[in-house]
Amino acid sequence: NSYTVVLPAAGIGSRMQASIPKQYLQIAGKTVIEHTIAALLSHSRIKSVVVVLHPDDTQFSTLKCADSPQVFTCVGGDERVDSVLSGLRACLATNAQSDNDWVLVHDAARPCVSHDEIDDLLAIQAHSVGGILATPVSDTLKLSSDLSDDIEAPHVQRTVDRTRLWQAQTPQFFPLKELLHAIEQAQQDKIKMTDEASAMEHIGTKVKLVEGRSSNIKITRPSDLSLAEFYLNLNNK
Ligand code: CTP
Ligand code: MG
Repeated sequence: NSYTVVLPAAGIGSRMQASIPKQYLQIAGKTVIEHTIAALLSHSRIKSVVVVLHPDDTQFSTLKCADSPQVFTCVGGDERVDSVLSGLRACLATNAQSDNDWVLVHDAARPCVSHDEIDDLLAIQAHSVGGILATPVSDTLKLSSDLSDDIEAPHVQRTVDRTRLWQAQTPQFFPLKELLHAIEQAQQDKIKMTDEASAMEHIGTKVKLVEGRSSNIKITRPSDLSLAEFYLNLNNK
């Protein structure tokens, strides 16, 4: 089997505080999104990437990878979930899909994903109905007071037991048609979604947790760029 990846890249990167969206910032002479696409397409079981772009994007088409026959584009929406939906619909329209085709969804802002992690995730197809890469939480977690009744500054309301808590990453891996249906259903039911698994959980699917690596960071804040460069060097060794 070979797979298509939907790559949401239509965000503006507000927390990065840069003058351009973070997916176009440079790491070691290449943009973040070029690193991400290279990490995916160099995997033998990934055949194509559908890149979901902001309606005003002018940068993607200037990149070398935009000309690759394995790279397709479509236009995203206001929220990440709108962009993912657009990418999934583009997948359905472009490929000759069979009912049991699975799809990967991966953040453009996660260039450090490794082939080993992708292998572990793909392996679940044989014995599950879908899953995600995730890492067990390692820090101690505090629930804060409600800021609306605490004008000064937040204080700790209580400590949250972390023993069963995981941090969700991407790729997330599900049957394409089921994922589309789940997101549409969750949107109708006004469920807040920051990942694909939330939609699958909402329709009652048992989502498998596949333990990934802490190096698969989502570039979010300025200091993440040098950390990503460090991990990319390790992956390419
Ligand atoms: N994304 C998207 N469409 C949106 C919002 C986000 O395709 N409307 C993409 C981003 O480009 C990114 C991924 O989803 O690759 C993860 O989102 P996030 O890290 O939140 O990126 P941004 O929304 O760009 O950043 P911020 O939240 O700091 O503004
Ligand atoms: Mg965002």
